[in-house]
Amino acid sequence: MKQLPIIALDFDTEDAVNNFLDNFDEPLFVKVGMELFYQTGPQLIKSIKERGHDIFLDLKLHDIPNTVGKAMEGLSKLDVDLVNVHAAGGTTMMERAVAGIRKHNSDIKIIAVTQLTSTSQEMLNEQQNIKTSMDEAVLNYATLAQKAGLDGVVCSPLETTMLKDHLGASFLKVTPGIRPADSETNDQKRVTTPEDAKKLGSTHIVVGRPITQSDDPVASYHKIKESWLG
Ligand code: C5P
Repeated sequence: MKQLPIIALDFDTEDAVNNFLDNFDEPLFVKVGMELFYQTGPQLIKSIKERGHDIFLDLKLHDIPNTVGKAMEGLSKLDVDLVNVHAAGGTTMMERAVAGIRKHNSDIKIIAVTQLTSTSQEMLNEQQNIKTSMDEAVLNYATLAQKAGLDGVVCSPLETTMLKDHLGASFLKVTPGIRPADSETNDQKRVTTPEDAKKLGSTHIVVGRPITQSDDPVASYHKIKESWLG
């Protein structure tokens, strides 16, 4: 899996993705989320792979263990590089997900969503009825994910130091909410620069609009890549 910043391909058509990727003549690491995948399907994944890019397929699976395991077996054939599940599905679901995704390709990494960043402390306590702090809830799910054999978690850059201290530096910490110092924050509330994300312990960063909506996506990408790789 490449160490590059992961570009969130938040487009809704295959043409828009291809137009964007045509700007680049180097291998990239891109993220395909459910909005794009549900409209373009496995065919788009194959064509991005043929261009030589790594893919984080961000579908956040969450269902009974058997269903998630079988779904992961199918995704394993797509030759993606990184996939994810919701840790809330439980230990058995996560174990089945690991077994499923490794069925046809043992190199694919799998990470867990702990708590979505859209979940507030109040929602955690009142709606999910989890009576702990957000940090404790995130650490609990991340610990279960590690025990179930997952490679890491998606998390906020502000949680990475805590996770590194408890679960180690090599446990993947894939962090969105990244903005270069001079860029718009858009709807992200708490943002971190690529350099700070690295200092805090992120192993991979996900960046969307600062690259995809830029007047010069290649220049914006290279600036972020340099500040991330140092
Ligand atoms: O455009 P931007 O850089 O904000 O895009 C970030 C990407 O990461 C989007 O695809 C968004 O859905 C995703 N994401 C996020 N925050 C999370 C999880 C995923 O921004 N907690």
